[in-house]
Parts: sequence; structure tokens; C-alpha cells
Amino acid sequence: MSERVLPVGILGTGIYVPERVLTNRDLERMVDTSDEWIRTRTGIRERHIVADHEAASDLAILAARQAIQDAGISVEEIDLIVVATNSPDMLFPATACLVQHALGAKKAGAFDVQAGCTGFIYALACGGQFVATGAAKAVLVIGTEALSRLVNWQDRNTCVLFGDGAGAVVIGPVPEGYGILATRLGSEGAGGPLLSLPAGLSRCPASPETVANNQHFIHMHGREVFKFAVKVMEESCLEVLQAAGLAPEQLDFLIPHQANIRIIEAAAKRLDLPLERVWINVDRYGNTSAASIPVALHEALQAGRIRDGDHVVLVAFGAGLTWGATLLRWYDHHQQPFEKGDG
Ligand code: UT7
Repeated sequence: MSERVLPVGILGTGIYVPERVLTNRDLERMVDTSDEWIRTRTGIRERHIVADHEAASDLAILAARQAIQDAGISVEEIDLIVVATNSPDMLFPATACLVQHALGAKKAGAFDVQAGCTGFIYALACGGQFVATGAAKAVLVIGTEALSRLVNWQDRNTCVLFGDGAGAVVIGPVPEGYGILATRLGSEGAGGPLLSLPAGLSRCPASPETVANNQHFIHMHGREVFKFAVKVMEESCLEVLQAAGLAPEQLDFLIPHQANIRIIEAAAKRLDLPLERVWINVDRYGNTSAASIPVALHEALQAGRIRDGDHVVLVAFGAGLTWGATLLRWYDHHQQPFEKGDG
């Protein structure tokens, strides 16, 4: 089988977070918790929460418009939209189709990917295949969450952790030697019960009992997920570096999933990476699940922390259980205008 493999890179980024901010102090008035506990156990100070009229697609659309503008392309050029989310507007139609319609991306195919908090890494890998084979030139990849809708606001084990937001990227062909150098996707379904939303679909349809038993909310065994997270963050980072023939010290910048500052710090320590080379925003947004990587990437770029030619790893873990990492050699298309198709 012959297959063209073109180098694939990120050509534009955008984010949107809802206006409403919920602080730890606000949470103190809602459940038996404290600002001190939340800060020291998670690193979170505040998170953004959707307004009554907002859902995951609304956040995605705003992030997507910014990414498209940043990439300097028109909406009509988008061939495919892949949305990673665990809090879609509804089961179907896919959130990607709602985004496609709102943007007016007339020629784009559209579908959702669900891989827990690793969703964006999976969606990027998926969209990247279409660009690599030449089947698509511009793919919009979005991570968006309105998880505050799926959280039990009486469960202190989970409600202090999550936040809402969206991040989007446009991917397309880049010059040889740039872009995605390696991807690692992993899963361990045996750990599924550690992080789940059990009811409302074919296994356990919605009923008065499922509602009474809080089965439409997120359930999590935090401590077990924590241990798993530290292990797979380190391992998958090392795996993508090795796959590209790079030594660990050649990693310039890390964009980790933002679930808990202690997980990020432990992973950085194991990788012997100083925290100045890691983007951290869990303090301001909490865990935005599939949105956390593209939001962090956008902020790191805006802050000038990632330069042309840098080796950057995006790494995440989440429900499934799943994990994944993407290694990129950063292509700064703002600095190096590149005609699509030249790659
Ligand atoms: O994106 C993937 C999603 N999930 C994650 O990444 C979660 C990974 N796990 C974690 O981040 C941490 O395990 C948590 C932040 C969830 C919990 O931290 P921990 O240090 O593992 O605490 P713990 O679950 O072992 O609980 C310690 C204590 C418990 O009390 P007892 O049983 O020792 O008396 C909890 O009931 O802390 C209690 N606790 C709280 N106390 C005040 C749990 N949540 C809270 C809270 N406020 N919000």
C-alpha cells in the first residue's frame, strides 16, 4: 500500500473560557472544603464556569474562530473538524457538526472523539493522519468542555477540580523536519471504573433511580488516578522522544494536561525538567479535561515561551483509562510564511 506522508504542524491556535469565575472561597460556601485544602492538594485557585445559556459547542466556536484567524486561512478552506469532548452538547448530533454549522465550514467533514482528558491528543493524532496522507490540507482540532454541567456540586471529591473552557488549533502541512515527529496513544480499559459517568445511555438508561443515585454525575477514585497519571506522563514523554531519536534533555518545553499541580511537578521531576520549561495554568482554570492542552499551548505561545525549532511535548491522561503524548518540532508560521502544499 503506498501512502504519502507529509509533515503535519500546528498553524494557528485560539481559546475561549467562560466569563464567570468560581473561586475556592465560593466553593467553601457550597461544600465542606477550604481554599487551603484545594490549593495545597491540587494547585487550583479558581476555575471558569459556563453561563446558563452556554454549552460545549458555544465555547468551541469562539476558540475555533480565533484559531482560524491566527492560521490566516478562511473558514471555507477547512476540510475536517475533529472535536474532543467529554461534555458534548448532546449525544448526537456530534458537537463537531454544531461547530461546522455555526462556522459555515461548508466543505468540512465533522466528528467527535471521546478519550477522557486525553481527548485532544487523540483528536490531534486523528486529524493529523488526514493531513499526512494528503487527504486534507486544513483540519480544525478542538478540545472543549462544559464539565461543570456533569459535576455533582455536592461531591467535594470532584466539584472542586473541574473547570470549563475550549482550545482550538488548525493543523496543516509544514516544511520537512517540522511538525509532529512522534505520537503515542495508550489505553487500559480495566481502569475504566476509576473515572466514569455511569448512567444515561445503553448500559444504564436514564430513570428516576439513576437520577436519585447521582449516576449522571462524574465519579472518580482520585488517589488511584493520581498514581496512574504520574507514571504514564513520564513514560509517554520518554517514548515519543525515543521514537524520534531524541534524548530527554533535548525536550525544550512541556505542555502537560492540567489536572493537579502535584501531578505536573512529579512528572517534571521524573523527566528532570525545570518547571520554567513547563506551562502551568491549573491555578486559573482547574481541570478543563480535553480543553486543557490546547488552552495551555495557546497561552505558552502567547507568552513567547515556544520558539521556532523547539521540541515540544503535549502529554495527557484521563478516563478510559487513556493516555497519550505528541512530540512536535515547532513550526512558527508567523515567522516563516509557508505556502500550503510546499511540504
Ligand atoms: O484529568 C483526569 C482527572 N482526574 C485527576 O487527575 C485526579 C487525580 N487525582 C488527584 O488529583 C487527587 O487524588 C485529588 C486532588 C482528587 C485528591 O487528593 P489526594 O491527596 O489524593 O486526597 P485523597 O483523595 O486521598 O483524600 C484525602 C482526604 C480525604 O479525607 P480522609 O478520608 O483522609 O478523612 C478526603 O475525604 O481529603 C478529603 N477530601 C477533601 N477535603 C477537603 C477530598 N476532597 C476534599 C475537598 N476538601 N475538596
